[in-house]
Amino acid sequence: MPNIHRHGVVRDADNVTDVVLNAMSRTPDARLREIMSSLVKHAHAFLREVKPTEEEFERGVDFLVRIGQASGLEKNEGILLSDLLGISTLVVMLNKNGLGTDPALLGPFWRGNSPVCASGEDIARDGGAGGEPLEVSGRVLDRDGKPVAGALVDVWQASPVGLYENQDEKQPEHNLRGRFETDAQGRFHFRTVRPAGYPVPTDGPCGEMLRAQQRHPYRPAHIHFMISREGYRTLVTQVFDNADAAIESDVVFGVTPALSGNFERRGDGKLHLDYDFVLQPGVRRIPTPPLP
Ligand code: BEZ
Ligand code: FE
Repeated sequence: MPNIHRHGVVRDADNVTDVVLNAMSRTPDARLREIMSSLVKHAHAFLREVKPTEEEFERGVDFLVRIGQASGLEKNEGILLSDLLGISTLVVMLNKNGLGTDPALLGPFWRGNSPVCASGEDIARDGGAGGEPLEVSGRVLDRDGKPVAGALVDVWQASPVGLYENQDEKQPEHNLRGRFETDAQGRFHFRTVRPAGYPVPTDGPCGEMLRAQQRHPYRPAHIHFMISREGYRTLVTQVFDNADAAIESDVVFGVTPALSGNFERRGDGKLHLDYDFVLQPGVRRIPTPPLP
């Protein structure tokens, strides 16, 4: 065998970690080396702490296998598991730089090709289907409080019964989705219907986990926003209805105090949500859409 690396042999539980780290120590990609050694160190520390029995280990592996088997084009239980463990939220929070608007997880329902709309347009393409009309407006600002004109404001939300258009054959294509551009004052405005909260899918292993932990599966009602412009870091976030009963118990931990929005009835008798977003300078990066 050419050039074998003698990483040493396992003596007992105490030296397994060092032997494994040594085996991976020549990984040429420095970032991969860093990530994998840290993963091994933390995973071994976790095992030393919980000391799983062999039956528990088998159950854990079986759970992960079933997470993979339950994933496909319609549903990704791997991402859902990360969401339910707070991992997705921690990753977006760790990547937040500076004092911009809080980010929130992308979720599985964003589509990359929503209709481009004129300011003020109604994204309830089914006439609202009995929902409560809602006017959404706000500004996109830079970190100095100056308006960002020409920013793309991509929005998507669940219906008044808590279903996204792709989950509900009664809704027309691209219902409750749209892309708007900010004007010279950084303003955007659209009409819609008040979204309802909804449960995450509970028909797979993630549902089993929630039941075992006595957790409810609900997300508070929210509107998703992806705001992008050349020269700024793309902001992916959600604004929540602070009147929702689940506002303090979002099953995927997306709510922060600043993202808790006020859906208020104004003098014109209409329900309004007014929310300003602050972008940080950086690179415009558009994620890969989880849905076609
Ligand atoms: C969502 O907000 O669309 C979402 C996020 C995580 C899991 C399920 C749905
Ligand atoms: Fe959502």
